[in-house]
Amino acid sequence: MQTAPPFSTSRTDIAGQSVSDLAAQFGTPLYVYDIDPIEQRIRDLSMFDVIRFAQKACGNLAILDRVRKRGVVVDAVSAGEIRRAIAAGYSAQPGSHDIVYTADIFDAESLDLVIEHGLMVNCGSPDMISQLGERRPGSDVTLRINPGFGHGHSQKTNTGGQQSKHGIWHTQIDDCLLRADQSGITITGLHMHIGSGTDLQHLGEVCGAMEKAAIQVGRTIKTISAGGGLPIPYKDGETYVDLAKYFELWDGVRNRLSEQFGHPIELEIEPGRFLTAESGSLIAEVRSVKKVGDNLFTLVDAGFNDLARPVMYGAHHPISVAAAAGAVDASQRESIEMVIGGPLCESGDIFTQREGGFVDSRLLPIVRVGDFIVIENAGAYGFVMASNYNSKTRAAEVLIEDGQAKLIRKRETFEDLVRGEVIPD
Ligand code: LLP
Repeated sequence: MQTAPPFSTSRTDIAGQSVSDLAAQFGTPLYVYDIDPIEQRIRDLSMFDVIRFAQKACGNLAILDRVRKRGVVVDAVSAGEIRRAIAAGYSAQPGSHDIVYTADIFDAESLDLVIEHGLMVNCGSPDMISQLGERRPGSDVTLRINPGFGHGHSQKTNTGGQQSKHGIWHTQIDDCLLRADQSGITITGLHMHIGSGTDLQHLGEVCGAMEKAAIQVGRTIKTISAGGGLPIPYKDGETYVDLAKYFELWDGVRNRLSEQFGHPIELEIEPGRFLTAESGSLIAEVRSVKKVGDNLFTLVDAGFNDLARPVMYGAHHPISVAAAAGAVDASQRESIEMVIGGPLCESGDIFTQREGGFVDSRLLPIVRVGDFIVIENAGAYGFVMASNYNSKTRAAEVLIEDGQAKLIRKRETFEDLVRGEVIPD
């Protein structure tokens, strides 16, 4: 599974459900998830002892419920994510490692929840060790180590190296051991997440850094986590990581550490994007097609309030066209270069752009008002990064499973939008 089939610029359905029917039934903009690719990705990673879903990628309760039922545990980066995991049925009993709080700080609420439920913590800052020690001496923790280098599809998603705020700097492990000792805390695991990439040599360097750090901490180590960062192809020609080779690298580290420490070491992986990105699509309706100088703008009813990745990172998402009910199938139409934008009062509200904010065009089947565009691979960092900018209500979400489209989040209403706002006398 190293290369994906080429992306098509036209489609009629998502997992067997007609795009125009989905739009008619649930309205647009609409996030649609297909359960099948999620199940497939879980199977792809089955050689790891533990698959821990980074729910920040796609935290809808129904998605969490479905991955939980398939044996996947979760991380939580905030009090809200802890509560989500519990609401989706994850165990929050002391001693259970179903939910791990993994962050660079505790805020008051997240620390309270961690204490209340006896949750496992993955510390991304030395201060977290002392703060946990004050409230819960005797705890086991894991440490997220920044090995001093990282990678990412954009500088904003690179989570290693000295430009990154994430993790405990690799030269501060002794300091952490001292703090842990003073706080009655035991370091039982290490974790590294440095961004996403496919370069096995680079990934091998992470493994080397992990092995070195684990030896420095010593035989209290029982688990190591490879973090997330498994990429998926967003453009033709982009590849997946060679999973067999990737696992082999980590398995080697695990086996050597096991031998050295004289006990088994559990190997975790913590993917977000890999599990859900390809399952999700954002359907938007074409509302205007207009010439602006030499550019043809197709304006749709979804904007960067719905999907922020193109604007934030210049991220490229595959886009396809689906015909309005009764219109000529998009695959039968001629293609033309167009810029695709949304409804927001921002010039940057453009889905076809490159990093640096440059408007780009895409060769797509000719569209008319009432047709749909489907922004693909939007199941990770899609809905979860949505906002109410321009007082837009957030989209509905639908899950397709067993051949049926099921609503898993209602479209927001105006009442949701102003809930909590107060006009003082
Ligand atoms: N574990 C930790 C500690 C993380 O910080 C992250 C992502 C993951 C796992 C999952 O990474 P993944 O497997 O999804 O690459 N909003 C950006 C991505 C930010 C990722 C932040 N951390 C985007 O849309 O590309």
